[in-house]
Amino acid sequence: MRRLIIDTDPGVDDAFAIALACASPEVDLLAVTTVAGNIGIEHTTRNALNILALCGREDVPVAAGAHRPFSRPVRGDDAHGNDGLGGHAYAIPASTAVVDKRDAVTLLKDMLEASDEPVTIVAIGPLTNIALLLAAHPSVKAKIDRLVVMGGGIEGGNITPSAEFNVWVDPEAARRVLVEEDVPVTLVPVDITMRCAVGDPWLNELATTPVGRELVAMTPHYRAFYLEEVGRDDFVMHDAIAVAEAIEPGVLRTTQLRLEVDCTDGPGSGATIADRRKPASPGERVVDVALDADVEALTGTILSRLRGRSD
Ligand code: RIB
Ligand code: CA
Repeated sequence: MRRLIIDTDPGVDDAFAIALACASPEVDLLAVTTVAGNIGIEHTTRNALNILALCGREDVPVAAGAHRPFSRPVRGDDAHGNDGLGGHAYAIPASTAVVDKRDAVTLLKDMLEASDEPVTIVAIGPLTNIALLLAAHPSVKAKIDRLVVMGGGIEGGNITPSAEFNVWVDPEAARRVLVEEDVPVTLVPVDITMRCAVGDPWLNELATTPVGRELVAMTPHYRAFYLEEVGRDDFVMHDAIAVAEAIEPGVLRTTQLRLEVDCTDGPGSGATIADRRKPASPGERVVDVALDADVEALTGTILSRLRGRSD
């Protein structure tokens, strides 16, 4: 079994990612922790509870985390609508579960300390909770198999020409995790997630199942945003690609890179910068950056799993 904790800001593509984890028999989903990002913490937390209920997993504990980035003002966009699920949050049944009384960092610490096997943390929102966890409880690093992080853009961004949204929201937290900490990281940047976008045939096939129908109903607002902002009319399921890698290590082909994160307030704010001038020296911090995959096989597997088939 693959022990996972998902840290998330649902979020339309977060919903697909959480559903993929719930639909994968080899996943032991220990917890879901929420962070402000696509929308405020109240919405991301309520959405996480309701997405888990939609997937029949009200048993998975959900704890709320950071309401805002480390050190800079809250900033965001309207990609996910005013409820975080493309205006479809009202239509999915409300969970009967209640939010865990612990905050996200405490739940993460408790779950890691209690686990007798290493845990993969899949971070698919701003990295505020993860940076806080590692700063406040460094002893849990021994229990983390790796972080699989959806974020960054080596050849450019999505929220600005230079920055990807999760890193842009909290660059200081991203720099802590990607540059200053030593926990193994697999970074899943927009360089690969944008290549894994899917169109109507894929979505129409997914919509033939009850859960899939609700997921697809969340996508029109998000797709319209991407058409307007980056000229793409298909569905870019960034976060599900990170969960797919967490479930099946190596499904994405990675390159070890030394990274820097731009924490200025200039046009490069939130950029993830790869230093390719020379190979990393022994012991130097590197990140496994996913830059390639068999995209057709990957999106096909995700569809099969979301439709409830494990092939
Ligand atoms: O840039 C894409 C990332 O930002 C995804 O995690 C999406 O949910 C948004 O949070
Ligand atoms: Ca997200």
